Amino acid sequence: MKVHLIYFSPALSTRKIMRAIGKSMDVPFEELDVTMGFDEALSIDEGDLAVFGVPVYAGRVPKLATEAFHKIKGNNTPAVIVNVYGNRDYDDALLELRNICQENGFVPFAAGAFIARHSIFPKVAVNRPDEEDEEMIVGFAKKCYDKYLEKEEPKPLNVKGNYPYREHGPIPLVPKGNSSCDKCGTCVRLCPVGAISADHPRKTNKELCISCARCITVCPQHSRNFRGLVYGAVRRKFESKCAVRKENETFFS
Ligand SMILES: Cc1cc2nc3c(=O)[nH]c(=O)nc-3n(C[C@H](O)[C@H](O)[C@H](O)COP(=O)(O)O)c2cc1C
Ligand code: SF4
Ligand code: SF4
Repeated sequence: MKVHLIYFSPALSTRKIMRAIGKSMDVPFEELDVTMGFDEALSIDEGDLAVFGVPVYAGRVPKLATEAFHKIKGNNTPAVIVNVYGNRDYDDALLELRNICQENGFVPFAAGAFIARHSIFPKVAVNRPDEEDEEMIVGFAKKCYDKYLEKEEPKPLNVKGNYPYREHGPIPLVPKGNSSCDKCGTCVRLCPVGAISADHPRKTNKELCISCARCITVCPQHSRNFRGLVYGAVRRKFESKCAVRKENETFFS
């Protein structure tokens, strides 16, 4: 029996939460990070446990995660689904993730929506997941693992969310580098959509960029960031709108 942690995590908070879940289940886990794409086809055994994790983007599952997850098939394989979001809302993303997993042959029996620092507005939910969150994540993982071992007849997993899912346009914010860039190439290599050129790594291709903030997280010089008047105005509004702490939620079938 194996636990498979399968996740999309540009700015690494989802990865952190997924690893905490994996470590709290009493068996070794395998990680499949699909942030840079997934070009193979994979089938996961009925006896294994799959844990799928995504950040919430505009209340939805990020498109790149959906594309990768559709290449991973279950065989009535039990699954846990995880949303990580930046203290605004997860809207329809948990429902969407549940449906994607079901379409691909998995049987979701547990779900969690956990809060982490907002990757575009990092003062929102700063320092989360904190100790209290971590305790809850460990408790959630242990309960999932116990439930998995019980091997009960599957029951429907109900989660919050609406269908048709929330529609959204592109996010008009893209990060840029400043003069501290030493052209090391890290962001060029790790941008999931190739929006940064090796010759001009301070610039960003606006047509390609998905605003995922990965380049900000991985830049050793802290050179890249969202900047400018428009960003500043949106940030102030967003920070006041999302100032009240939200709590994690879990669901079981
Ligand atoms: C493009 C984009 C859209 C986002 N939309 C939402 C949202 O709708 N609701 C929310 O609470 N957080 C939202 N966030 C915040 C992320 O869900 C949150 O920061 C998450 O921890 C990022 O995961 P990662 O660090 O694994 O990339 C968004 C972040 C990005 C980059
Ligand atoms: S350039 Fe855009 S898409 Fe690429 S890592 Fe940075 S934010 Fe993400
Ligand atoms: S990771 Fe930072 S320092 Fe390296 S090329 Fe990108 S912006 Fe420049």
